[in-house]
Order: sequence, then structure tokens, then C-alpha cells
Amino acid sequence: MSKKKIKDIYKNKIKLISELNNFYYNNSDPKVSDQEYDSLKIEIINLEKKYDFLKSTNSPSITVGSKPSKNFKKDLHRVPMLSLANAFTEDDLINFEKKILNFLSKDKDYKISYSAEPKIDGISASLTYKNGKFERGLSRGDGREGEDITSNLETIKDIPKKILDKDFPKDIDIRGEVFIQNSDFENLKEKFANPRNAASGSLRQKNPEDTKKIPLNFIAYTFGFEQGLNQKKQSDYLKKLHKWGFKTNPLNKTISGIKNLIQNYKEVEQQRANLDFDIDGIVYKIDDFDLQKRLGNVANAPRWAIAHKFSSNKAISKILDIDIQVGRTGALTPVAKIKPINIGGVLVSNATLHNEDEIIRKDIRIGDTVTVERAGDVIPHILAVDFKKRSKSNSKFIFPDKCPSCGSKTVKEFNKVTKKVDAVRRCSSEGYYCDKISIEKLKHFVSKDAFNIDGLGKKIIEGFWKLKLIKFPQDIFKLDYQKIEKLEGWGSLSVRNLKYSINQKKNISLERFIFSLGIRHIGLENAKLLSKHFISFSKFQNLPKTKNYDDLLNIDGIGETQVSSMKSFFKNEVNLKVLDELGKTLIIKNALATQKNGLLKNKSFLVTGKLNGISRAEVKSLIEENSGNTVSSVSNKLNYLIIGEKPTRRKVESAKELKIKIINQDEFLKMLNKSS
Ligand code: IVH
Repeated sequence: MSKKKIKDIYKNKIKLISELNNFYYNNSDPKVSDQEYDSLKIEIINLEKKYDFLKSTNSPSITVGSKPSKNFKKDLHRVPMLSLANAFTEDDLINFEKKILNFLSKDKDYKISYSAEPKIDGISASLTYKNGKFERGLSRGDGREGEDITSNLETIKDIPKKILDKDFPKDIDIRGEVFIQNSDFENLKEKFANPRNAASGSLRQKNPEDTKKIPLNFIAYTFGFEQGLNQKKQSDYLKKLHKWGFKTNPLNKTISGIKNLIQNYKEVEQQRANLDFDIDGIVYKIDDFDLQKRLGNVANAPRWAIAHKFSSNKAISKILDIDIQVGRTGALTPVAKIKPINIGGVLVSNATLHNEDEIIRKDIRIGDTVTVERAGDVIPHILAVDFKKRSKSNSKFIFPDKCPSCGSKTVKEFNKVTKKVDAVRRCSSEGYYCDKISIEKLKHFVSKDAFNIDGLGKKIIEGFWKLKLIKFPQDIFKLDYQKIEKLEGWGSLSVRNLKYSINQKKNISLERFIFSLGIRHIGLENAKLLSKHFISFSKFQNLPKTKNYDDLLNIDGIGETQVSSMKSFFKNEVNLKVLDELGKTLIIKNALATQKNGLLKNKSFLVTGKLNGISRAEVKSLIEENSGNTVSSVSNKLNYLIIGEKPTRRKVESAKELKIKIINQDEFLKMLNKSS
């Protein structure tokens, strides 16, 4: 490529980033996502590294942000407000530390202490205090020169106006972040795209009275110019800030060792969703001020600090359509079909909208531009609608008053316990009338904690349903195997295996059987309670004849909600027929009255990792049948940790520390005189 061409490419990128900066800093209206902005910045810096003839005063390697806006008086920062380099991986952190040790010419075993501070995603500000009095406040601006926003900052309650402590420096710029709490942002959603924009917008109001209306917060974390500061460490400085009346981040920590930094990073990332302010990473600063001074700065960032960014899990997309899914209990779940977008390496094209109320609350419409979040393994969901981007033709979404599968009326029930109308709308049909409900019931029937039939997964159930091979649970035990063998993807061996696993499961405990029926509000625990009450299948089946529903209320754990659900289950003729048919085909074992002197008497267990051919629920009931008990965490109360495949390391380590017996599946089964 010619030099001219490279220069042109570079100039275009610089022009673009200057425009984006202007939108972001002066109009509080970012035009691209943070990821896109960061990628552009990296592209520019990489070009400069590769071709040393490329230079621009507007390069992100020189400037921080944009020139201050024209609305406010400008002023120079006495000490520039710097930016931070970013780290994304453990390797980035290892390199960061390596460079520091090289620079300081220390050997690799030298222990560096860091102040690890969650990086609040707000607007930074520099507050000048002279003789304890708040005199002037500047925004960051371009890092060299900021806007005088003193009157607006004065309205913030977290900013002390006068500090009388004797040890407060004579002259100091206290620096920190102005931000808005997510809970307060709820009321401003219509005006701003995110909390950061709301904070920036509020700080830039021409009239401080308008700033006052939007509740801003301030957290202090560093300083600029100073005279009379006596602390030698960042951690001590943070403590003093607190004593002087500033808010500091309660999640700040002092840590050494990369492994420990990573551990803290993971812990904070997990808490992130529960915090009332947005954080986008952790800032690590060398704790010792003398070392900070020795290290100094490179271009516009200190050599002694780095921002360890969280991987992004949000993206902007567009709602193409809203689908209504029908669940096993008739619940109608709206799902947004979105323009496929990559979020953290996963292509997302569906996002749950939870229920009708959520759509109304967030006023979500087809055609809207929305922020989608994907956190961990949970189904992606819509965080917010960008109302500014809404076109007039996007009309309000009308939730169907008929079930999209069977056409029955849809209803919102009144919950007698909470005394509230349910947020969820449901198909009002009963039994197996609605196709979608029936398919979901069948999937539940064969699921892990129910009949747990190997080789009969959700997709196969759907396929068999379409081919009319099954309609009711009893049909599973009367499958036309000859027909199945002729289907695509099936052969004599796979059919034989399927037949074998289905026949094997004809023998089932009463509690699993009750659970597998998928009666609303009767989960595993309640099914177990009911099985202990009824003891036998025939007594359970006879309930509608005896009408002893009120007896059920005497069972500890069973309430009105469950009883009324049992009543409607038994009121339905189809359900009674299903019970009858299943009773003829299956061997349903009586529930055991709890054995008081079983093999596992006085012994407690916890399972970690995946077991082979036996579910957690089954292990739990085996333990309880034999008078043992299960606990939910490793503690002194635990006697045996049962480990399967990929156990949780931390559980195994704590068990070792507490000298708790660690056993595998076989050893556990041997305790019960069984083998797997
Ligand atoms: S220290 C030279 N500490 O991150 C040190 N910054 O990209 C620079 N930020 O402009 C600032 N939390 O807006 C520091 N605990 C923290 C921070 C923090 C958030 C922001 C701040 C700064 C940007 C750096």
C-alpha cells in the first residue's frame, strides 16, 4: 500500500474518532457502543505503531476525550487528568506487572501491593479544595483543560463543601466519579439511554437547579495537584478520604499477586448485576506512592495503573418480531426475535420478554432498537428501549387474549396468597386440550428428575408428537417401534436401546411419578411430601373419590395454592384417564415410611460434579430413604462429599481442609450395598 493511501486511511479514522468524541463528551450522546469505540482506538494506535510517519494532534494516543463544550467556562487542570490503559486477559496483567518489575529493576519474586478498585462507569471530576473549602470543580474535558462546572457540582450531597479535619491537605484536587444510581435512573429512562448519559446530561445543565433534580452521587478515588498530603499509600489515602467525609467504594481492596487479582475480579464481576451502580472493570493501582512516582506516565496514562475490563455482555439490536411461547403450565412467554447480534462470542437472535407486564412496563414494541444483555447461562433479555430511535409506525404490542396454540381464552389469575393479579397470562385450557401444553407436559414427563428416559430428549418428543406417535404420557410405553425403526436417523440398534430404557423405567417411585405428572405448583419437594402422605398410587388415584383435599393442608409445606391446583388436576377427565392408563402399565412403588435406622443414619452428604446415570434428585432421595441427610455447602456438618465428573474445585479443596471424607459414586453406592 502506498504511503498516501495509508495516510488517507489514518486521517479518516482520526476524523471519525474526533466526531465520536464530540458526540460522547459534548452532547452526552454516544453514537457507537463502547466496544466499537475501543476497536477504532486500537486500530489507530496500531497504525501509528506500524507507520511512524503517522501523527495527529487528535490521535487518541495524545488526547483524552474531546475539547470542553462551549456552554461552560474553561480552565486548565493543574495536573492533567490521565486515562488508563486497558487489560482484558490474565496475560495482559502478567505483562503489566512484568514491565513494572523491569522498570523498577526488581526480581520476579518482588511482591507488589495493588489497590483494586471497581471502575465506576460515570463522569470524572476534579474538585479543588483550598484550606478545606470547596472552591472549584472541573470536568475532565480533554484531560488538560476542563469545564468549570462548580455550581452544578455544588448541588451534589456527596461532595463536602467544607472539611475541617486538621490533617486535610492545605491545597488539593480531589478526583473521583460522578454517577447516578441505577434505581434513580429508572425514572429517567425515557430521557437518557443509560445511567452514564444521564449523569453527564445532569452535570451539563446550564441551570444548577436542574442538576439538583437529577440525583447525582460522587465517589472519590485519586488526586491531582496536592500540597500537604501526608499519606504514603493509595489504601491509606482512600481511608483518609472516607474520614474526611467523602464516599469511597466499599468494594475497594488491597491485593497482591496476579492470581488474587483475578480471583477478586471474578468475585466482583459476579456481584456486578446486584450493584446499584454500573461498573465496567477493576482499576489496579500500585499501592505505594513512591513507586508510583518512580514509574511515572507513558503518553496519557500512568505506568502504575491499569483498568481490567469486564467482558462486555450487552449489545444493541432491533426487535424484528415478538413470538408467544406456551409453556407446560399454560404460561404465555413473549420472546423477542431480534436481528442476530454477537454478544461475548455467542450469536443471539432471541431474547425473553418474561411476561405481559414486562412488555407494558418497558413499553417494548416490534421495530424498537433495544439493549440486549446476556449474562452467564441465562436466556438473553432486553434491558432497555432506545425511545429516541423509535419510529412513529411502531405501534404498542397487544398481548393475545386467545392462546396462539389452541385458541382458548387467556387469563391472568388472582393469587390468593400474594393477593395480587399474576404478571403471567395463561392459556385457560385444561388437561391435554392445548397441543403446545401437551408437548411440554410430555417433555417434562421424560425429563431428568421425572422418568429420566435415556434417548428420549425434547427434540425426539417433538418429532414423535408431529408423527402422532404420542399424545399422552401412556403412549410412551406403547410406542410403535417398527414404525420408528423406519424413520430417518433411527436404526435397529437405536430402537432397541430406546425400547430398553423405556422398559427399564416402568418401575418408578411414587414421588417421581407424582412429580412427572407436571401438576402446577407440585415440584420435586411437594411431590415427595404428597407421596409420603398417600403412600400408595391407589390412594393417590382415589383422592377425587374420597374428596379428602383438606387433609392435604395438614402436610407441612402444602398450602392452599397446591391444593387448589390438585383439585383442578383431578377435576379433568383426561387427567383421570391418563392416571388410569399409567397405573395399568407401570409398577409404582409405595413410598416408604421414613426408615429411622437406615444405613446412612446420622450421616450427611453433598454431591459435586456430574454423576453417571443417576440424577442429583435420585441421590438425594436414596440418602433420605436410608435415614441420611443432604446439605448444601461444605462445612463441619458435612460427613461425605460425593464427587462426580468436573467437581467444583473449591468444594473439594474446602472438604480436604476440613478433613471431610471424599468418595466417588461407586463408593457411595457400596455404602448402600448397591453397585452402579
Ligand atoms: S484513577 C491516573 N480510579 O476511569 C488514574 N479512575 O480511564 C486515572 N475511573 O477517567 C484515574 N473508577 O473516569 C481511577 N477507582 C478509579 C476509577 C477510575 C473509574 C474512571 C475515571 C477515569 C477513567 C480512566
